[in-house]
Amino acid sequence: MEDIRKEMRDLRRDFDYGTLDVKDVPENPFELLKSWLDDAVKMKIKDANAFVLSTAVNGQPDARVVLIRDITEKGIHFYTNYGSKKSKELAANPKASVNIFWPDLDRQIRMTVEVKKLPESLSDDYFATRPRMSQIGAWASAQSEELESREKLEENLAALEKQFEGKEVTRPEFWGGFELTPSYFEFWQGRPSRLHDRVIYEGNGSAWTTKRLYP
Ligand SMILES: Cc1cc2nc3c(=O)[nH]c(=O)nc-3n(C[C@H](O)[C@H](O)[C@H](O)COP(=O)(O)O)c2cc1C
Repeated sequence: MEDIRKEMRDLRRDFDYGTLDVKDVPENPFELLKSWLDDAVKMKIKDANAFVLSTAVNGQPDARVVLIRDITEKGIHFYTNYGSKKSKELAANPKASVNIFWPDLDRQIRMTVEVKKLPESLSDDYFATRPRMSQIGAWASAQSEELESREKLEENLAALEKQFEGKEVTRPEFWGGFELTPSYFEFWQGRPSRLHDRVIYEGNGSAWTTKRLYP
């Protein structure tokens, strides 16, 4: 165990997958986001659509991983339990941040976002595409509440499977999506000797300005 401390200090690698130049990037950051996501999916990176969502209430940040389920011209969508800790934090402060890291591509994306709930119709549409057991799982979990035992969760699941037997599983009202609308993006491409390429976009959704940052 003591060795891990030394290993942390010595773990290092050079980043040499690619380059990023502010002169070459598209005017619209969503194009670059989609193109980098596409690269990650094509490379078959595990959980290529995963990102760290950070919330902040009363000056206390909190972070967890969720999955991008859609990208529109306005923002990215993810789904969750509206009673969860993250949802309560987003209700208290709808400003959040997003971080995506793809080690195999030496790439990181950061976004500063405003968050709002998706219309119920979109949540219904997405819920209907989920595997049946995930649909029932959404009903069975009071996400972020204390759970007395694993057995309790399994009992909930078994009771719900019975309840929905032969029936369509409808979306619980306490489960749905959020739209994250960015006003700031940073695209980071790792380069050798820590001299990374960083390009930022600032804007309001229709007009964006770009800059290169020191690494
Ligand atoms: C790869 C990965 C993907 C995840 N995707 C989601 C997701 O899309 N929605 C979700 O509610 N939780 C997802 N989770 C679980 C969350 O990280 C988190 O544990 C859960 O949402 C409870 O967070 P909260 O207590 O801050 O609300 C995912 C976790 C991992 C590791």
